[in-house]
Amino acid sequence: MELLKIILLEGENPMKIQAQRSSVRFYQGRSTLPIVDRHKLVKLANGIHKGPFGTKIRMKSTEKKMGTFNYITTDKKLEKNPYYIVGCVSTNVDVPEKTDRIDFGYEFEKIILYASALGVGTCWLGGTFLENEANSILDVNTDTEKVYAITPFGMEKTELDINERKKKNGFTRMVMRNTRKPNNLMFFIDVYGNEIQFDTVAQTLGEPKSLIGLLKKHGQLGEYEEEQEEGKKNEEKEETKNEKQNQEKKPQQLDYDLIRKLEKEKPQELSEIWEGIFESVKWAPSAVNEQDWRIVFDQSERAFHFLIESTRSHYCFLNIGIAMLHFELSCLWYGYTGRWEKLKKSNTSWKLPKDVTYSSTFYMD
Ligand SMILES: Cc1cc2nc3c(=O)[nH]c(=O)nc-3n(C[C@H](O)[C@H](O)[C@H](O)COP(=O)(O)O)c2cc1C
Repeated sequence: MELLKIILLEGENPMKIQAQRSSVRFYQGRSTLPIVDRHKLVKLANGIHKGPFGTKIRMKSTEKKMGTFNYITTDKKLEKNPYYIVGCVSTNVDVPEKTDRIDFGYEFEKIILYASALGVGTCWLGGTFLENEANSILDVNTDTEKVYAITPFGMEKTELDINERKKKNGFTRMVMRNTRKPNNLMFFIDVYGNEIQFDTVAQTLGEPKSLIGLLKKHGQLGEYEEEQEEGKKNEEKEETKNEKQNQEKKPQQLDYDLIRKLEKEKPQELSEIWEGIFESVKWAPSAVNEQDWRIVFDQSERAFHFLIESTRSHYCFLNIGIAMLHFELSCLWYGYTGRWEKLKKSNTSWKLPKDVTYSSTFYMD
């Protein structure tokens, strides 16, 4: 699924969506989840996805109750439980080391953010779920596949009883929700530890491409224009079955309204844009709120290197995939495009502190 289409699907600023998202562990009954939202989410999730480094990821939604060690609303009555989405990766593919987890983090977070855009609650569960149950939902071949995480989904329950409130406070203390590390510990320029300056990033990278150009690149606008032309030529002709089908595929005029809306929402200062893009990474979810991603902006290469502060927890690879998605999605929103690469060790000359591991690079177009 194209990233851009996710934005266009709901017409929401992804940075707002990212800021609004937080892990939801208490859910209302299933009846409060609008059927249309459930279908949209299930349609996006179910099937095979491919991460930026080529790993195949299978996802499936389930109506079954999942074992989550009581971290998530669980009730004897099925309809009082949330629904779930389960995902697994192929582990026997020829991808660079640990990129299966990075790809999984990146792809699964698309579902999380899409749910967020719909106002539907989710919570990454990388540890507190019963793996056997998840394996059976996806019919996982444990020799070649692995479930890294699942998520419940449903409407958040905000009016909690006393026991639920206690539990929530416990979770909040445990993972320090609503807190994040300051920029100077996470985002750097040229040298690890050298705090990022957003006006320098803005000056180096210049104006983003216009959103209209961006939409063309992704075939959103080009298709529309071509079909308009064709439509004119065929005005007098009788409509054939084929043309009818084309007509159905035609993106609507709505796209133009959306472009205007996007243009209007752009802040004036480029440095503000970059501050916002980094803010959206900062508020990404991470296992035990570790925020173990680090980003170094490389001025001469016009590139952003994504690094892992410590690989002591195997979740760090999922976390970095999530951070990559937040970054790319926010860049796209403002018309900045680029590509992901994993550099070979021999191509990196930087001196990184002990324990810090290189993950991936986003080269700006
Ligand atoms: C890879 C990953 C695994 C996670 N695993 C769990 C989990 O097993 N149980 C849980 O309650 N929360 C889990 N979380 C949610 C984090 O605790 C949460 O994202 C973090 O504390 C930040 O809070 P926020 O999501 O509300 O912003 C996980 C998050 C990520 C990204």
